[in-house]
Amino acid sequence: MVNNVVFIIVMLVAVVASALTVYFAIGLQQAKKSKDERESQMSSSNKAIQAICQPTKFKDACEQSMSSANSSEPKELIRAEFKATVEEIKRVMEHSATLQELKKDEKTKAAFADCELLFDWAIQDLERSFDKLGEIDMGKIDDVLLTLQVWLSGALTSQQTCLDSYSEMDGQATAKMTSLLTKSQELTRNGLTILNGLQSLTKDLDLTGLDTSGINRRLMSSDSEFPEWMSLSDRRLLQEAPDEAASPSPPSPTDASSAEAPKSSAESPKSSAESPKSSAESPKSAAESPKSASESSDSAAATGDFKPNVIVAKDGSGKYESVAKAVADAPKRSKERYIILIKAGIYNERVDIPKGVDNIMFIGEGPTKTIITESVSVEKTTPRPTTFNTATVSAAGVGFIAKDITFENSIGPEGHQAVAVRASGDMSAFYNCHFNGYQDTLYAHEGRQFYRDCTITGTIDFVFGDARAVFQNTLLVVRKPMQNQACIVIAEGRKNAESSGGYVFQNCTFSGDKEYLPVKNKNKSYLNRPWRAYAKVIIMQSQIDDIIQPEGYIPMDGDKGLTTGYFVEYGNRGPGANTENRVKWPSIQQLDESDIKKYTPGPYLESESWIPELGIPCIPNMIPGL
Ligand SMILES: *[C@@H]1O[C@H](CO)[C@@H](O)[C@H](O)[C@H]1NC(C)=O
Ligand SMILES: *[C@@H]1O[C@H](CO)[C@@H](O)[C@H](O)[C@H]1NC(C)=O
Ligand SMILES: *[C@@H]1O[C@H](CO)[C@@H](O)[C@H](O)[C@H]1NC(C)=O
Repeated sequence: MVNNVVFIIVMLVAVVASALTVYFAIGLQQAKKSKDERESQMSSSNKAIQAICQPTKFKDACEQSMSSANSSEPKELIRAEFKATVEEIKRVMEHSATLQELKKDEKTKAAFADCELLFDWAIQDLERSFDKLGEIDMGKIDDVLLTLQVWLSGALTSQQTCLDSYSEMDGQATAKMTSLLTKSQELTRNGLTILNGLQSLTKDLDLTGLDTSGINRRLMSSDSEFPEWMSLSDRRLLQEAPDEAASPSPPSPTDASSAEAPKSSAESPKSSAESPKSSAESPKSAAESPKSASESSDSAAATGDFKPNVIVAKDGSGKYESVAKAVADAPKRSKERYIILIKAGIYNERVDIPKGVDNIMFIGEGPTKTIITESVSVEKTTPRPTTFNTATVSAAGVGFIAKDITFENSIGPEGHQAVAVRASGDMSAFYNCHFNGYQDTLYAHEGRQFYRDCTITGTIDFVFGDARAVFQNTLLVVRKPMQNQACIVIAEGRKNAESSGGYVFQNCTFSGDKEYLPVKNKNKSYLNRPWRAYAKVIIMQSQIDDIIQPEGYIPMDGDKGLTTGYFVEYGNRGPGANTENRVKWPSIQQLDESDIKKYTPGPYLESESWIPELGIPCIPNMIPGL
């Protein structure tokens, strides 16, 4: 750990050291300036590049990506790496003959369209990472590090999602697209590895209140505290560097002991008995039979004094009758929140909040009253869409917030993959919302996300994707599947170890719909299966009913993820929570109390900096009494 810890200080010191080298070169040899100076600059730049690229998996690509930067400053080198990644994606988009060939392929048209969109997302995420890093002082990297990690992970997931769309359509074309994206994925992973190395310094050392020059001296006091991959001459060079190179102390991280956020006036998740109607036969049933029990607490909107910018109402009393039309007129790239009040009614439409349409907030009149529903599915819609493109509501804008609404894909289990909501925007939050569907109900795709007091229903993989998401006080309800199906609640899709994705379920309830209960021992249910090799799921302080099989998990694709995944259950309760007979995969981990805390919303999502202002209750740490 210490090795990683010194990594950034080492680099910062290197900057000063190389600056001094240059300074002396100028001072002493004014006359024969040019050549020597350039060479010394070159060599210090090369040294810095090698040092920064050392931990990456694809070193040659890393070094090459930084070679044009003409700098030994870590920040500029890392930015050069981001820029090279963008250029690589653009090169594929603009100059690849294979891509032109794929574009003409009728059979995979839908996948190609997804890829065009997703490449653009990846470019946007990399470019804003480049800008963000440019704005800050390396000493304050901690302020933006998680953001950069999440954006780069998003760029990686976007590229992977393009390949997913192809693999749903055609094997040969998938192989071609995979090879086109190899280099850009490698570069993106390198970028993440570099960022992850920077993290160790600030996260593992409590710098608060300490004199950083002291830390610097301490870290530099012995050779053994340098990263083991660093050459002796580099160590010497860095050791000679003056103290001023130390970065200033970062601001103290959110105090984990801070008081619990205010609770909503709305009562949180309804008991499983009340929960979701089977809407396969009649998707409208939810609205037609509002439950009196939940009536008084149905709308949480009353807690916030959010004034809507526009009103959508089925009965013509608002500015719009369609949610999609209201979104189409919303401002682009707005820093201000744009609030769309959606009055009670069933909105049969698809809604897309594109990337770049930021800070949209939907407020409904309660999940039994405001319902957005459609029925696009992979199996029943022609032409056959990609899973990515089945969502009733897709939200890619940053800061998309929804409260008091039901989102539904009503096709039923026969539609197979049929998403109700795809959430791809960073800093998205859903409060008192219902997500109703069967297979693939909620695609928590990428970015930081927070779900609170929600209900999610489904049959297979009904929470899936690779967002960095926390689900708090949320009810997960298994519904009756098709005859030949088993049920799986979660299929997390983290593909690479570098990525920041992973799901946390805290004080959630895993339960079954009453129509499912009679078949629960025939069509069995599992908590989780690894969609990809590094799938990551933490279930803590939650209620697990006896609908979950004792083994808890099943494989998805041979032995994929059984060793490299990361699955934790901590402090759960209920008859399904007994872990004694769980599968014995190496990926099943035990955490102690200090480690599990990392997965609460405060540290994991930096929730305190963005959730309280949304009027959404959030307990940022362990929930007391559970
Ligand atoms: C780096 O230096 C070389 C040679 O001095 C020059 O040609 C190139 O334009 C410089 N690149 C940047 C990004 O400044
Ligand atoms: C935990 O979840 C249960 C059931 O959803 C809820 O009643 C309870 O209030 C939650 N606990 C806290 C501290 O929020
Ligand atoms: C689902 O249940 C039916 C009977 O209701 C049974 O025939 C079938 O084998 C079960 N399938 C799975 C995969 O559990």
